[in-house]
Amino acid sequence: MPSELAVGIHDLSFRTTSFVLHHSELARHNGTDVAKYHKGLGQRSMSVPAADEDIVTMAAAAALPLVRRHGPDRIRTVVLATESSVDQSKAAGIYVHSLLGLPPHIRVVEVKQACYGATAALQFAAGLVHQDPTQHVLVIASDVSRYDLDSPGEATQGAAAAAMLVSADPALLELSGPSGLYTADVMDFWRPNYRATALVDGKKSVTAYLDAVENTWRDYRQRGGLPLEEFRSVCYHQPYTRLAFKAHRALLEACGARADEETLHHALAPTTGYNEVVGNSYTASLYLALTAALENCRDLEGRTVGLFSYGSGSVAEFIAAQVRPGYRSHLRADEHQEAVNTRQAVDCETYRALHRHALPTDGRSYELPHQTRGPFRLAALRDHQRIYEAA
Ligand code: HMG
Repeated sequence: MPSELAVGIHDLSFRTTSFVLHHSELARHNGTDVAKYHKGLGQRSMSVPAADEDIVTMAAAAALPLVRRHGPDRIRTVVLATESSVDQSKAAGIYVHSLLGLPPHIRVVEVKQACYGATAALQFAAGLVHQDPTQHVLVIASDVSRYDLDSPGEATQGAAAAAMLVSADPALLELSGPSGLYTADVMDFWRPNYRATALVDGKKSVTAYLDAVENTWRDYRQRGGLPLEEFRSVCYHQPYTRLAFKAHRALLEACGARADEETLHHALAPTTGYNEVVGNSYTASLYLALTAALENCRDLEGRTVGLFSYGSGSVAEFIAAQVRPGYRSHLRADEHQEAVNTRQAVDCETYRALHRHALPTDGRSYELPHQTRGPFRLAALRDHQRIYEAA
């Protein structure tokens, strides 16, 4: 394939859950100074799934606007990245394919490597489009972040799905240049198959994340990547938004550049708006940061933004993307604001009951209460099968 073919993100949409828990309410419940959450972590609220919401319902809701705008006919592949998968065998994307009424002549797969999975899916999609530039690839990142109640990780939960259409001659962003890559076998965060909540060594995870920032950057530069001053903004994976500021400070210092508050604010403040109020959405987090940057920076045409993807365990990647002329007319800021602003606030008691809610594992029939305000819902479990429907 000719290397001059522009391939990247043609359209981008996200959706989240129907409920939200404000950190002020969590702080009231557990007696923590709310400044720890608002300033120390940079988090104001977190999305909480309704009983009949999961990664499939969020993924389908996020992708629906893309299918409506561009039609289904050019989609040849659906890649769903998640670390909160609903089945060990069947790809969650097949339920999404069905809910969206996509044509049958499509391949559907699921990708996993903690929060990094969506970036691997994006690279897979870009490779497919280079192979056949007439096709669209639907990439979806969908996750529910769940830690034990009353654990330090609890304040960094959240949930969302981001859907991206990857194509040739994209309207939003062209993926360009080399990747910086870094893998290290580290037990900073993991979720064994028998657990519904993640295990995490919080401090180790922060160190592993910051190590990965420096190591991916070094690899990126050694492979001929752009110098840091070429980037208008860097979108980081944001398990909590303060970590992005720490990461960028470390990167600026490693590059011998000024790391004052104004420089950090200019580069990062436009990227954090959604993750501050949605919480950690694992695979989707970086792409919510990107959505925020595209919507909030008014000067991005022709400029370069960096994407830093990190998945515990760990794998990390740094890539550059060039913002396309005319990108603003393709954005969906109003829809995204609505998705975030129309969530219903719940108190701690309701949130804790939802957190404890567990689906039966013995195959008996179980009807879910209708709670979601989204377009799709998990209606029931029957004979060990998940039954999804339009809400
Ligand atoms: P913690 O022990 O609750 O909090 O754990 P802390 O004591 O470290 O305090 C956090 C910050 O708040 C500190 O700031 C405090 O000083 C500050 P820092 O020193 O970091 O600059 N603070 C205050 N600030 C203002 N007023 C106050 C106040 N009190 C304290 N009154 C931790 C925090 C993030 C470790 C915990 O929430 C956790 O374990 N979270 C889950 C793990 C995580 O998010 N790790 C991030 C890196 S790993 C990653 O990104 C991958 C991941 O997304 C998973 C995947 O890849 O699949 C998690």
